[in-house]
Amino acid sequence: MSEEKKPVFYPNREFAKQARIKNMCEYHDLMNWAKEDYEGYWDHWAKEKIDWFEPYTQVLDESNAPFYKWFVGGKLNVSYQCIDRHLEVRKNKAAIIFEGDRGDKQIITYLELYRNVNRFANLLKNKFGVKKGDRVVLYMPMIPEAAYAMLACARLGAIHSVVFGGFSAEALRDRIIDAEAKVVITADGAFRKDKPYMLKPVVDTALEEGCDCVEKVLVVQRNHEDVVWIEGRDYSYNELIDLDSDNCEPEAMESEDPLFLLYTSGSTGKPKGVQHAQAGYILWAQMTMEWVFDVKENDTYWCTADIGWITGHTYIVYGPLAMGATTVMFEGVPTYPDAGRAWKMVEEYKINQFYTAPTAIRVLHKMGEHEPEKYDLSSLKVLGTVGEPIDPPAWKWYYEKIGGGRCSIVDTWWQTETGGHMISPLPGATPIKPGCATFPLPGIMAEVIDRDGNPLETGEQGLLCITKPWPSMIRTIWNDPDRFVKSYFGDAKKDGKPVYFSGDGAIVDEDGYITITGRVDDVINVSGHRMGTAEIEAAIKKHPHVAEVAVVGKPDEIKGESIFAYVVLKDVEDSFGEEAELAKEINQVIAKEIGNIAKCDTIKVVPGLPKTRSGKVMRRILRAIAKGEEIKQDISTLEDPSIVARIQTCVIG
Ligand code: WT7
Repeated sequence: MSEEKKPVFYPNREFAKQARIKNMCEYHDLMNWAKEDYEGYWDHWAKEKIDWFEPYTQVLDESNAPFYKWFVGGKLNVSYQCIDRHLEVRKNKAAIIFEGDRGDKQIITYLELYRNVNRFANLLKNKFGVKKGDRVVLYMPMIPEAAYAMLACARLGAIHSVVFGGFSAEALRDRIIDAEAKVVITADGAFRKDKPYMLKPVVDTALEEGCDCVEKVLVVQRNHEDVVWIEGRDYSYNELIDLDSDNCEPEAMESEDPLFLLYTSGSTGKPKGVQHAQAGYILWAQMTMEWVFDVKENDTYWCTADIGWITGHTYIVYGPLAMGATTVMFEGVPTYPDAGRAWKMVEEYKINQFYTAPTAIRVLHKMGEHEPEKYDLSSLKVLGTVGEPIDPPAWKWYYEKIGGGRCSIVDTWWQTETGGHMISPLPGATPIKPGCATFPLPGIMAEVIDRDGNPLETGEQGLLCITKPWPSMIRTIWNDPDRFVKSYFGDAKKDGKPVYFSGDGAIVDEDGYITITGRVDDVINVSGHRMGTAEIEAAIKKHPHVAEVAVVGKPDEIKGESIFAYVVLKDVEDSFGEEAELAKEINQVIAKEIGNIAKCDTIKVVPGLPKTRSGKVMRRILRAIAKGEEIKQDISTLEDPSIVARIQTCVIG
């Protein structure tokens, strides 16, 4: 990709001296240990990091690959790992610092967290009969009660499935039904940009059809707007919570019992319920917090994600609390009341580690290039990015203006399925090349290979695979083990054995650095959020005038990628000239079926799609046309080669 050698930025020396991993020698030592004695390596960390109720008898069971099992026979409780075990030394330490959209604040100590989670668990158990293995769907704003709810489920051994608040009633319903949830936890709504917005009405709509599994709905009253209450189904958290005792025995969970489901988009079909297990997940959540962010006892750490995504699970709730850190939770948006809000919070709370998405950095840069100068950001030590590649201008601004040229930027590559970071710089050790996720973390066997497991030539793109199972990996797709095997273990092999393929392409440079080039499947990445083209296409097809549709990603300066749809109408003659009106309608359908986050930025009516003779849509051509590129590939294999020029005319106008 790049012709000239990329500049290298070395970790700050003073920082490196006190970091957990201090230099590349230490990194290589750990990595070599893992390579020489994989199970011994993980055994060491599992014993050191987890407070086991009962020890495990086997580190890794590969007998039913790719359904790998870790720490077999061990018993633990994740909420105990995140709360109880800290009480002796940290009961008065802030566990969660919450800032509301309107500037309201709460500091929740570990002891208070203990009480709140125990009460919450007792409420779910005693009032709603929630028990081990039950599924609980959360449709929540970014408020501390969302974290309490997750941890309360973990305490009881119930499996939570958090659905991002930006998803529509239909999308929520699909997830509730697929998980067969017994309870839904939501809020009346919350605040955004000083205005109340609503969630409970969305739950009401979702439950109108096909959700007989749901017995109870628990509503946290946050914005105190009026909502409909259904007698016998809906309960107010605020009214019930004080009635329960603040002592609830943590359930002794098997290492491999499911901890949570989180639905994510794939290249085909409906969203997949990614299933994570107890022990392996919490182990790696905690270890990566310690290694990648290097959070110290007195530090304040802030991740701006939403708990509806894996980043919020692992790096707002589970990882920070497992290590006993102070985690900041923010209800609002970083651009309100102005583009200095985030930096104001950094100054106010003396944030030491800040973790966000490149899209947010680009927006804050664009809207408030000089805002950071107004605040004291000297507390910052480590800056993180996640979700998409970071481009050089955004990186430079982040490094210089936010990090003052003194902070390491950790560009963390991972996925919903990996549970935690896989490829990332270590802030005290790794010489950083901007825009590059650098090296696999110690113990993670990430490799860029071809389908047969051969390494590629330097600079050549290959498949980003993880060639050995790791503790925090996806265990299966809920209700669909076949799809799990096909989706992740069907594309690449090493030494004849199927290996995990991420769906991303990557390049290794002459120094062994890994640069992620993006999805090689039909998944697009909008503002660091994963969207399946198949899902969006299925939604668009529900519009009565649409005969055929193809959705592709188009590079976007702010969002990374924007959503571009080509639609073929059933009755072309009639609907021409009303493109804008039609686009609006189509986006309304998408908002209803999936949510506003999946709305298309561009919708073009075209006379047909470029298909091969076997009927396969050539998305590569559509991506090139969306970009305004010249078509270089051979189009003679198309059923109708003339369609390309006709589509181009429609797009260019
Ligand atoms: C996809 C996973 C992991 C939490 C947020 C997204 C892309 C993720 C990076 C990065 C380039 C990245 C990949 C990946 N991605 N991190 N540092 N550089 N691309 O989780 O929704 O499961 O999406 O996000 O394409 O496959 P997700």
